[in-house]
Amino acid sequence: MAERTATLTLDGKTYDLPVLSPSAGPDVLDIRKLYAQADVFTYDPGFTSTASCDSAITYIDGGKGELLYRGYPIDQLADESHYLEVCYLLMNGELPNRQQMEDFEYRITRHTMVHEQMLNFFRGFRRDSHPMATMVGVVGGLSAFYHDSLDINDPWQREVASMRLIAKLPTIAAMAYKYSVGQPFVYPRNDLDYASNFLHMCFAVPAEPYHVEPALAKAMDRIFTLHADHEQNASTSTVRLAGSSGANPFACIAAGIACLWGPAHGGANQACLEMLREIGSVDKIPEYVARAKDKNDPFRLMGFGHRVYKNFDPRAKVMKESADEVLDLLGVQDNPLLQVAKELERIALEDPYFVEKKLYPNVDFYSGIILEAMGFPTSMFTPIFALSRTVGWISQWMEMIGDPQGKIGRPRQLYTGSTARDYVHVDQR
Ligand code: CMC
Repeated sequence: MAERTATLTLDGKTYDLPVLSPSAGPDVLDIRKLYAQADVFTYDPGFTSTASCDSAITYIDGGKGELLYRGYPIDQLADESHYLEVCYLLMNGELPNRQQMEDFEYRITRHTMVHEQMLNFFRGFRRDSHPMATMVGVVGGLSAFYHDSLDINDPWQREVASMRLIAKLPTIAAMAYKYSVGQPFVYPRNDLDYASNFLHMCFAVPAEPYHVEPALAKAMDRIFTLHADHEQNASTSTVRLAGSSGANPFACIAAGIACLWGPAHGGANQACLEMLREIGSVDKIPEYVARAKDKNDPFRLMGFGHRVYKNFDPRAKVMKESADEVLDLLGVQDNPLLQVAKELERIALEDPYFVEKKLYPNVDFYSGIILEAMGFPTSMFTPIFALSRTVGWISQWMEMIGDPQGKIGRPRQLYTGSTARDYVHVDQR
């Protein structure tokens, strides 16, 4: 029983709504019994004021620009941890000791290959398919290959499916890339760390040896870490909603990938780099800023704004540092896109429109510059986001499935259509 209640008065009757207190963040009104008691729904399209679940995984304070994974600040994890450790943390709630980390790494690396028959599945796609299209299909298709980890009521099978997804997503993303450029698939190498293995699968060719530059692998690993989870965003909510019906984890993650693809969400990294290219030079920036502010123009500055952050996205700060480091390392510090990005950021942060609406650069603003410098085409940016976010989706899905109070997600609506009317035969219309 909540200690505090809020009172709703409606048509002369009062209803007590329990006030729930989270460990951090604003209080939450518990309206679960409202419809049964008062025969009303609440209305919140876009879920701007709705907590859809309890979760102990990730916390965002949008005002402060703070992001915590299981309580640990994202900048500390990006600097001091590494992606697989972050995966363990997100999935299990605590940082692993050495033995736990070794076991986890061992298990992940034993699942990196995909069923050999899946190669034929890839070959069914057109060569010019967007890698995200391929990934939605292939990840959904995993449920046709791994029948022994589909029973969501068996905790062991849930764990095996989770390991498989985290291990195979880089392989699938790299295969989608290789297929799109007409190069042979490169098998995973379990002697490499997670990020190095991904770079190897993307850029090695059978004709010559490929050396993974450790500094680039570190930058890649950081990108994975920064994208690993982000509480109840659109794709995570999609995974939870799909999972609430009892769908298998491979199908749920495919649903998350489909949702992530949109330009308002994970597709923004591709859209942002395309926008920087279109702007092209610093002198064109005012024209694009003016368009972004024009209500009659649908153009938005990609990589700016966020539903939750009303301050700097803490991931963008780390990403900007990484962009500088990577471009320095590759000797392309005078990259014109980086110059445009820095100037755009400066102008937008001073412009009253962006200041008043609290529109700051988000994670996607700098990630594309790093990925492009590493040699990825823009079409691979969102698949890289998807493979990084898989652990977040999986952790949230596991949390939901493990909750004995779990219910199928089933929102209601404010109906605005026609009321009941009689069918009219086609001759009388
Ligand atoms: N450029 C210009 N104006 C903007 C922008 C932008 N990027 N973002 C928001 N606005 C304006 C918007 O027009 C609105 O103005 P008004 O109040 O006058 O109608 C106001 O700011 C609030 O915007 P909103 O669309 O109501 O806010 P939202 O919380 O529904 O949308 C968003 C958040 C991220 C979809 C939006 O800011 C956006 O479209 N940004 C560009 C796309 C982008 O970078 N997405 C990546 C998000 S971070 C990674 C991820 O989540 O995957």
